[in-house]
Amino acid sequence: MFLQGLVTVITLTILGVAIIGYHPLPTGLENPIKVQVAMGILKLLRAVRTVQEYLGYGSPYQNVKLHFLTPKTDDPPKSAAIGDLKVTRDTIAGVPVIVYQPKDNSGLYPAIVYFHGGGWVTCSADMYDTLMHEYAVKTGTVIINVDYRLAPEHPFPTPVQDCIDVTRFILQHGAKYNIDVTKVGVAGDSAGGNLAASVALKLTREPDLPRLLFQIIHYPAMQAFDLHLPSYIDLNQSVPILTQDQMAAFYAYYMGVNRENIDHFTTVISENRHIPADVRKSKLASFVDVKLLPPQYQTPKNPRPTIHSDYDAQVYAQIKDIVADPLFSPLMAPDLTGLPPAFVQVCEFDVLRDDGFLYARRLQDAGVQVKLHFGKGGFHGDIIIYIFVQLNSAESCLSEVYSFVKDRLGK
Ligand SMILES: *[C@@H]1O[C@H](CO)[C@@H](O)[C@H](O)[C@H]1NC(C)=O
Repeated sequence: MFLQGLVTVITLTILGVAIIGYHPLPTGLENPIKVQVAMGILKLLRAVRTVQEYLGYGSPYQNVKLHFLTPKTDDPPKSAAIGDLKVTRDTIAGVPVIVYQPKDNSGLYPAIVYFHGGGWVTCSADMYDTLMHEYAVKTGTVIINVDYRLAPEHPFPTPVQDCIDVTRFILQHGAKYNIDVTKVGVAGDSAGGNLAASVALKLTREPDLPRLLFQIIHYPAMQAFDLHLPSYIDLNQSVPILTQDQMAAFYAYYMGVNRENIDHFTTVISENRHIPADVRKSKLASFVDVKLLPPQYQTPKNPRPTIHSDYDAQVYAQIKDIVADPLFSPLMAPDLTGLPPAFVQVCEFDVLRDDGFLYARRLQDAGVQVKLHFGKGGFHGDIIIYIFVQLNSAESCLSEVYSFVKDRLGK
């Protein structure tokens, strides 16, 4: 009797977990079973929040910051235990960082300053420790893994300013870390890809600094001007690690919208009602023109969402300067000439697919050397999920990144 009851409870639990965690994934995705499990765990974590929200603890957009992904610790970084590199915590220009250096630290080494992803509001340098350790080993560079401050507590421009300050310090005083300042590149993924591009844009225009040697931009978030690009419409629910409305919430928090107003701003931005019609026809619009996308992606396959209300003047008034600011949105920079050679990863299953395509295309049009990596079967976040589970799409992208770095370093 007892055993029967136990078996029933266990069966029902497994069934419940499977139902909550299940999400139909698109065909063509690499490693679908592994991704199914990873997304199942993610959905379960979110289901816990749904229960909290039901009990009155905020709304989904208010809770888009996942605090369990931003732990702070003073313990040695985990990868220090591997023992092949010197891995230490430090503070550069007032910003906490993790530094990965060769053990025998004689002579000068090239370096990469890395900015983690997480929508400018979540994740941490520690969460990226394993990936950064691999980056350091595979490229033979010193890695500076930057724990920049996060929104909503520290909205734009604080996160990007932290990244600029750390990179400028390395370009000026890299010798302190045995870094050859003529061989420094920047890198980042998702929001961190945006930060890497912004830092490259800003510091390339500072004449007294050594030139950055490259920028590596993994599936970046590049603009909050048009949230109805074809990838936003067609891939919204493809892999539930990042949906179109969550991206709108991240942008809103990064813009400095507070918790009280986040639901309203997120809805307006996600419905693309935050920009007035005349601005939609301005020069800014030409930077996100779908005609810059590869021909097969210029028209969404799904119908555009029907929006019933008009544009929101109050929201626009509050965000208009930020939306057009190149440090918030490198894609809005009128002039991209002279930037360092770029590696751009674009994933097939990613609401930000078109942001990556657009930035790569605009760099190319400005005469910048671009290595575009189209991750067929890849999805948003694959290089960080890869630290938990082997993924073909992440592996092939990273191996191309490591060759790109070696090429740039003339190795
Ligand atoms: C994306 O999906 C969410 C539900 O997760 C929905 O609220 C939002 O309107 C969708 N966005 C688009 C552009 O379809």
